[in-house]
Amino acid sequence: MSQPPTTQSDLPQAAIRRSQHPLLSVVLAQFLGALVASGLVLVLMPILAAGFRFNLLSFALLQGSSAVVAAWGMRAPVWWLPIHLGFLPLVVLARGMGLPSWLWASGFLLLLLVFWRTDTSQVPLYLSNRKTRKALALLLPATPCRVIDLGCGDGALLRHLAGARPDCHFVGIEHAPLTWAWAWLAARGHGNLRIHRGDFWNHSLSPYDLAYAFLSPVPMARIWAKACAEMAPGARFVSNSFVVPEQAAQSVVEVGDSRRTRLYIYVPQCSGKSALANGASPGAETQD
Ligand SMILES: C[S@@+](CC[C@H](N)C(=O)[O-])C[C@H]1O[C@@H](n2cnc3c(N)ncnc32)[C@H](O)[C@@H]1O
Repeated sequence: MSQPPTTQSDLPQAAIRRSQHPLLSVVLAQFLGALVASGLVLVLMPILAAGFRFNLLSFALLQGSSAVVAAWGMRAPVWWLPIHLGFLPLVVLARGMGLPSWLWASGFLLLLLVFWRTDTSQVPLYLSNRKTRKALALLLPATPCRVIDLGCGDGALLRHLAGARPDCHFVGIEHAPLTWAWAWLAARGHGNLRIHRGDFWNHSLSPYDLAYAFLSPVPMARIWAKACAEMAPGARFVSNSFVVPEQAAQSVVEVGDSRRTRLYIYVPQCSGKSALANGASPGAETQD
């Protein structure tokens, strides 16, 4: 399996622009697919053998194939192509199964509550594994410290750290409602762990000695600007897997797991502390 791109500069500029409006290009590819498929049906009908009729599934397959071509033409990431191909055919097949509509609505709701605004954040849910948790525990300052996980997911990483370091205080911010609820409930046994629901862009990083992020290539430049603007001198920013574009890491830890995780350790020190990329006031705190 290929490694994900680790820097924003690894991505072509068109991909970066598209990544800011990912849903638009998906809808556009599907729409173009439907347009081309309708055109093809109109053109092919008189040519094909008499008696041949397009059913809904064959139209859906034609639409899916055309959507793939459109998406490929728009330089969509390659993993989108099978999704474009299968989307409408699967909808048609699923419709034929006669399942109750509440089941589809519940599935959608569940996905929404877990993945929330992945379309805008461009940061899906995947979790730091056990080896990474242990490696991160070794990176904590030897003295009592304050640590934040930006987008804490189910909070398992922070629970491990909170258990390992009772002298430190840990904070997790998560915006996906169901994931946050899970993390919040599971944190109740840990006096040194707080889980907040909210957007980490609105949460000041100034109190923390270490900020941990396992995000995606998309927000790395922005999170770096935020860390630079807000974190105290000597504080560290640790990124799992994704590098900060055009910044040299102070050091890199090879976790030694099967996915060859790397922890990139930075000391945010930018010239001009005013480089606040998010417009949030440094004192702003997320509510739980
Ligand atoms: C890749 S997961 C990492 C989870 C956890 N930090 C870990 O390492 O196991 C990223 C998480 O960040 C959350 N997230 C993304 N953008 C966010 C934002 N702006 N504010 C709060 N949470 C966010 C996502 O919902 C997701 O749960």
